[in-house]
Amino acid sequence: MDMNWHPIGDISDIPLLGARCVKTPMMKIAVFRTDEHEVHAIENRCPHKGGPLSEGIVHGTSVTCPLHNWVISLETGKALGADEGEVRVIQIRNDSGQLFVALESLVMVAAE
Ligand code: FES
Repeated sequence: MDMNWHPIGDISDIPLLGARCVKTPMMKIAVFRTDEHEVHAIENRCPHKGGPLSEGIVHGTSVTCPLHNWVISLETGKALGADEGEVRVIQIRNDSGQLFVALESLVMVAAE
């Protein structure tokens, strides 16, 4: 399926091993930078009680929620360890430092 890619800015807007909350036409999402060139995007809402994951601590390819320390995988959106729950992963593309998210994956998240 062809995706419609929505621009969300430059990779340099996101601190290395950090995150930003990004507004999209449908919803706010959390965009993470785990490596010099690697980015991930998920819903900005912890599956536990809705904590803002964009304010969590990034380590490896996971983020620890700032509220009660659940650890969420940025690759699968699933809670790790003994906790159960998941957030939607949003498709993101890094095109020479310009970041784009797939509108289709935002629509799917917003519809839930
Ligand atoms: S809201 Fe994220 S761990 Fe509780």
